[in-house]
Amino acid sequence: MTAKLIKGTDIREEILDEITKEVAEIKEKYNQVPGLVTILVGENPASVSYVTLKVKTAERVGFKEIQDNQPEDISEADLLALIDKYNKDDSIHGILVQLPLPKHVDEKKVLNAIDPDKDVDGFHPVNVGRLMIGGDEVKFPPCTPAGIQEMIVRAGVETSGAEVVVVGRSNIVGKPIANMMVQKGPGANSTVTIVHTRTKDLEGHCKRADILIVAAGVPGLVKPEWIKPGACVIDVGVNRVGEKISEKTGRKVAILRGDVDFDAAKEIAGAITPVPGGVGPMTITMLLFNTLESARRHLSAGV
Ligand code: GUN
Repeated sequence: MTAKLIKGTDIREEILDEITKEVAEIKEKYNQVPGLVTILVGENPASVSYVTLKVKTAERVGFKEIQDNQPEDISEADLLALIDKYNKDDSIHGILVQLPLPKHVDEKKVLNAIDPDKDVDGFHPVNVGRLMIGGDEVKFPPCTPAGIQEMIVRAGVETSGAEVVVVGRSNIVGKPIANMMVQKGPGANSTVTIVHTRTKDLEGHCKRADILIVAAGVPGLVKPEWIKPGACVIDVGVNRVGEKISEKTGRKVAILRGDVDFDAAKEIAGAITPVPGGVGPMTITMLLFNTLESARRHLSAGV
């Protein structure tokens, strides 16, 4: 059997088209467009390339986008003052501070300074709490887990009553996606197990999964014999395992490998995400979706 490929690159295009239409409707109704500010401190090359892509994609869907670059040696007080400025700016509905931050800045303090109603990353403790409560309380589901859930739903995979096994317990992926899949509601209602480095029988748990979500950061961790035939496999791993020369650009690019042995797994799974081109493209897409929703709430004064 060859699994159905769940392509993030295709789903991204669908969602970005939907967002573009909704931006036009918001503009028509309120004479304003969603506003996103991306604050980048320093020049970490990975961060620069993430932020560049975020800005480009935000502009493509018609957002007001501010790329606010700050020097590496900005003081914590100045960064907090900058966040406060955007918290008070009515044309801005989403504030993103690109991580990691330089060592002299307290990351927790900075993230906690963002107005929870503009925290489109969903990293503020208030939003983590809202996610835990579920239902109408949720304002900003964190972007990668939101992308995973959207992919599962759009691939037509049944989640209600499904055994979901999440490999990895990070605050950014493992814990929130487990929490989202266990909630009442569409795209959820699952029975969820989180497994991690101290789990005794990793293979045994994975074998039970109707939906296997792997966010361990270990290339090729999940072997094909760990996969239940017909299961849906979501591979969140983006591991750099080497470099190659791109045929397109002639430049050096990273060779990426997921946490799942893809070539063998696709012969057993019912549906599977590739790496690259799977979960990766969904993160920025859901960031823009969160910003759109925030704009809608602020402009209708519901916040
Ligand atoms: N750095 C790498 N990924 C992310 C992300 O999703 N959000 C923020 N704020 N920083 C990041």
